[in-house]
Amino acid sequence: MTDTAHPSDLPELPRQRGCPFDPAPGYQALRESAPISRITFPSGGSGWLVTRYEDVRTLLSDPRFSSRLAVSAPHVRSAVAALPEQPLPGALLRLDEPEHARYRRPVMRAFTVKRVQQLQPRIQQIVDERLDAMEKAGGPVDLVAELALPVTSLVICELLGVSYDDRETFHRLAGQLLAIESSAEQGQQARAELASFIAALVAAKRERPGDDLLSTLIAEADADPGSPLTDVALTVLGSLLLIAGHETTANMIALGALTLLEHPDQLAALRADPALADRAVEELLRYLTIIQFGLVRVASEDLTLGGQAIKAGDYVVASLPSANRDPGLGIEDPDRLDIARDSAAHVAFGYGPHQCLGQQLARAELRITLTSLFARFPGLRPAVRVDQLPFRDDMIIYGLHQLPVTW
Ligand code: HEM
Repeated sequence: MTDTAHPSDLPELPRQRGCPFDPAPGYQALRESAPISRITFPSGGSGWLVTRYEDVRTLLSDPRFSSRLAVSAPHVRSAVAALPEQPLPGALLRLDEPEHARYRRPVMRAFTVKRVQQLQPRIQQIVDERLDAMEKAGGPVDLVAELALPVTSLVICELLGVSYDDRETFHRLAGQLLAIESSAEQGQQARAELASFIAALVAAKRERPGDDLLSTLIAEADADPGSPLTDVALTVLGSLLLIAGHETTANMIALGALTLLEHPDQLAALRADPALADRAVEELLRYLTIIQFGLVRVASEDLTLGGQAIKAGDYVVASLPSANRDPGLGIEDPDRLDIARDSAAHVAFGYGPHQCLGQQLARAELRITLTSLFARFPGLRPAVRVDQLPFRDDMIIYGLHQLPVTW
């Protein structure tokens, strides 16, 4: 495909799945014959789609590919120009180095392996309480509404210092922010409502600090006149953590549970040897890659990626689902789920400076929730046929809108 082809002649990002557990068909052929190919966007423009594992890692770690210049996500949204031209302070996903690191560093301390280890008993307690409630209610129950969303929402609420009573508000806003057909106006409105919700919280915590991350960040900022954490930055960071912190992992919990139920040999292996849980979590993250349409960057100068010339200003999409099914990842038969293998080199959390800040927390929540769920309900099964389940084909983060289960 040449650079001069008219966008309407170009293929689109593959989006239509065949099997709900596999990426849309089309990626394998692209990896083999056109690993960096020109595609058309729903907005009418065009850009590049990168499908091989090595190229995706190179792209995401090369500072010449900018997150800042990516003012929209044109590969999935019909609405263009949905984001402000100038990113707000603290908007980690939209900043380049060195500005990005100045905001990421203070928050990172709350998400280290050690800090997450300290949180584990509390996560276990939250999971056990939800499982007790499920058992008491009796099946069928919706695993998304009764387990996955409450666990991840309760954990991030406690960590940040947000009231769980406000869950309806932030669940609704997450829905609007992550739906691929949301208009630019809907996106802007949801962002504004979320910002005023968190800004009010920042003001309240300055008056009455609690034992939580927002209060800690406010105290650090107030004690250091050189701190980049202004109230606007704290609001933007708080909004990002609240949304990224519950939606992603909740979808991995529900979709991960269903995937194991649909692969009974794998589930039996996990039940027989709970020490496999860490590997199972990595393999599910790889196999399912819920950031289903990939990540967007913009070339800040003319350059070459994987032998392909790319012009300054071009949009480039890193397909995480494709990279994670590429034999170049170094595993055999990547289209097979094998919870015993070592697939930790996957890119489900991205790669490079923006690699997921909450990944240790996500891993702990996934491991504790999935192992406890299957230990508690040996007869767990979906309450409806898989082809009747509402998969999230319409959202940036894949998963299930509902998952009725019984036992
Ligand atoms: C299974 C669950 C999760 C998945 C698959 C996931 C995936 C990702 C990916 C792919 C990125 C990279 C974005 C980019 O490069 O543009 C990212 C960034 C991020 N994630 Fe996650 N995430 C998960 C859970 C979480 C949790 C639990 C939190 C917070 C507590 C979180 C907070 C963040 C933040 C703040 C960033 C931005 C980092 C930066 O730009 O420096 N994520 N995540």
